[in-house]
Amino acid sequence: MAKEKKVSEAVIRRLPKYYRYLGEMRAIGTERISSGELSKKMGLTASQIRQDFNCFGGFGQQGYGYNVDELYFEIKKILGLHEQYNVIIVGAGNLGQALANYSGFEKEGFHIKALFDINPRLVGISIRGIQVMDIDDMQKFIEKSDIQVAFICTPKKKAQQIADNLAKCGIKAIWNFAPIDVVTPKGTVVENVHLSDSLFTLSYRMNSEIDE
Ligand code: NAI
Repeated sequence: MAKEKKVSEAVIRRLPKYYRYLGEMRAIGTERISSGELSKKMGLTASQIRQDFNCFGGFGQQGYGYNVDELYFEIKKILGLHEQYNVIIVGAGNLGQALANYSGFEKEGFHIKALFDINPRLVGISIRGIQVMDIDDMQKFIEKSDIQVAFICTPKKKAQQIADNLAKCGIKAIWNFAPIDVVTPKGTVVENVHLSDSLFTLSYRMNSEIDE
């Protein structure tokens, strides 16, 4: 399926969820699923699912539903997960090390090649065989190792400046965990992850149920 030019943000946000559910179905050997069944599992309406897939030309067949394997690989491709990416992590503290310790990103094509930090006590150690390097060596490393993606795990006040540097070094995508919405120039995309947004939503729901 060809990617359409402008896909809405809401559809893009749902794609990883489709990918995850379809991956789970494949893992238990499900070969085919109707849009009705998929909608029940995912808590969306069948028409929403059809509309979403129509953004990419549609995948299902009338009366057959969706071939789980085919749909999984189509969505994987749309998400760009059929490619391999070289990654660095900037900030090798608690979160940076936790992300480096997680091997799941590699399985989806994101290969962490190094961490960078300003703290001399961290420079030189390795996390799951991945070296922590001096921040001053970052630019050279990005060029030499063909790095496309960076995760920012530094304190908030440094994050924008780091994002600016990364963009200058030609980084294509930034996954920012610092609690600030960093902005990037054209040519570098950013996804600002605010874990506490989800926690505060949980808190709201917990409290609104108590009030009911
Ligand atoms: P941390 O203090 O353990 O680690 C931050 C690291 O960044 C330190 O090792 C520090 O030396 C390094 N650093 C500072 N300035 C730098 C620079 N200019 N270049 C390179 N490295 C630099 O903090 P932690 O807990 O790992 O958090 C990192 C960021 O992630 C923070 O902004 C925090 O708010 C955010 N965050 C952390 C979560 C967690 O579970 N730890 C959860 C959600 C967000």
